[in-house]
Parts: sequence; structure tokens; C-alpha cells
Amino acid sequence: MKKVLLFGDPGIDDAIAIIYALLNPEIDLVGVVTGFGNVDEKQATDNAAYLLQLGGRPDIPIIRGAKGPFSGEIVTYYPEIHGPEGLGPIRPPENFTANVRDFNFAFELIRKYKDELTIVDTGRSTSLAAAYLLLGEDIVNSVQDIYLMGGAFNYPGNVTAVAEANFHGDPIATDLVLEKGRDITIIPLNVTNHSIVTPQMIDVISAQQQNPFSTLIKPIYEYYTNAYKELIPGLNGSPMHDAITLFAVVNPHYFQYISRRVRVDTSEKSRGRTIADFRVKPDAEPLVTLDRIALSFDYHAYIKDFMKIMTSSLTHNK
Ligand code: RIB
Ligand code: CA
Repeated sequence: MKKVLLFGDPGIDDAIAIIYALLNPEIDLVGVVTGFGNVDEKQATDNAAYLLQLGGRPDIPIIRGAKGPFSGEIVTYYPEIHGPEGLGPIRPPENFTANVRDFNFAFELIRKYKDELTIVDTGRSTSLAAAYLLLGEDIVNSVQDIYLMGGAFNYPGNVTAVAEANFHGDPIATDLVLEKGRDITIIPLNVTNHSIVTPQMIDVISAQQQNPFSTLIKPIYEYYTNAYKELIPGLNGSPMHDAITLFAVVNPHYFQYISRRVRVDTSEKSRGRTIADFRVKPDAEPLVTLDRIALSFDYHAYIKDFMKIMTSSLTHNK
């Protein structure tokens, strides 16, 4: 079982990733670090708390992360994709128990689990970059590995022609993480745009009623899918950018990778663009300085797993 510290900005696809993690017997979710992104940090925290409560795991710590990017600029949120409160038409209830912690609790978890821990970042990179700055790279790099959802390699962006939303949201932070981090796997739009879940699949999941999420899943999915209809006409469904990143953590063999040193453009004009040198070169770099970029995957294996996990029942004692 993989111990996962998830950084995210729930947000509909982050919400589905949290549900996937809670239901997956191969994932031990040890904490959720919430930050600005799809919604503001406070809303992201409330949404994570609601999902953990619904899943019967209010004990899992929710760690309050970054409220904005390193640049200090005003943040743009995405209510048209994720809904006014980040869960489509659902408004999380106001009073429930949650184990909400300050950011330094993330340091405790990293120190405690070290090489047993996988860090997964499905939101803006600010909180993870702050961990590098405050805790130091030796300690953060003592974790087993790091998975980042973001970027687009020689592939169209989703917030600009060249940039993906997570890496665009705080390019200084993502660049810092890539510069200081080790054992990083990137799951970019090249992969996640193809992680399409169709309305028919969601009908099956919500009809099974095997877990407490079955009534939530359909309305949040429909909101998100309607937004995607506007964004990418002709798509039969919507991509699960963040859930497929967790699928990759426990099923890395279903992906094909290329290893390159990756940086992120922090300039105004092409902000958030991922830069990797794909030229064939005689002097290969040492693997330790390279980042592993997923470029394709086995869609059928992913959907089979997604359906199995999302229609399963909760195992509280995992
Ligand atoms: O570009 C897709 C990513 O941006 C996803 O993580 C989504 O939740 C948003 O944060
Ligand atoms: Ca996200």
C-alpha cells in the first residue's frame, strides 16, 4: 500500500481524485494539503473536509496550504468549470468535524514517513515549493517519489495556447520544485486529456450505490462535463486529470515515459510552458537530474481500474 500525501485544489477533478484515493485499497491517504487553484484555499479546505467526512475518514489531516502564488498577484478562479464552491452544484454543509492543521504539519508527515511517502501534487505548486524552501531539499527529497499533474509537452495548453493550469498558476513555484526535486514523475495534459470518463460510466457508478459518494458523483461530474462541452466541443465525457495521476502512482507500469530535465517558463509571454530538451544528444545526463514524463498510457487498463475502484465499498481499516 502506498502512503500518499496529496496536495490539491478541490475542485471537481481533485474531488474525484480524493474519492478514488479513499476507495483504493492500495492507497493510504496520510494527509491532504489544500491550496488555491480551482477555488480559494478556504473553499478547497472545506471541500476536502466534506469529502473526508463523507468517506468516514475525518481523522485524515487536512493541511492548509498556499493562499496565492509566489508572485503575490491576484488569483483567477474557475467557477465556470468547477462551480461557485468547487463541487459543481453541491454546496458542502457548514458544520462538520475535520482534522484541519497548519502548514507545518506537512513537515511532520514528511519527516515521519520519509522514504515510505509519495507526494502527489494535483494543484498549483506553491505549497510544495514552500516546503522545499522552509524544510530544505534534503528533507523533502527523502520521500520515496513525487508525482505532479501538470504541463503540456509539445502539446496544446488548457489555460493558454502553451500552458496547463497547474503549472501556469504559479510557474515560479513549479520551476523551483522541478529544480530542487528528485524522483519526480510528471503526468501532463498529453496523458490526462485522454483520461476521459463518459456519462455512461458515471451512470453505472452512481447506480451501484456501494459507497457514500454515489449520490455526489453524478451531479459534480455533469457540471464538469457540461463545462468541458464548451471547452472542447465533441468530447464524449470529461478528463480526470487528478484521478489518473493517482492511478499512475499505484499503476506506473501502464504508462510510457521519457526522461528529461524539465523547467517551466516564468516569462510573461509564455508563462507556465513546460520546457524539455527532446533533441537526441550524445552526452546523456545522469538519470538523477532528470524528470520522468508520462507521454501515453493504457486507456483500457485505466478505465477498468477506475470503474472497479469507484464502484467498490469503503474499507475503513485499510
Ligand atoms: O489542468 C488541469 C489541472 O488544473 C487539474 O489539476 C485541475 O483540477 C486544475 O487544477
Ligand atoms: Ca487540481
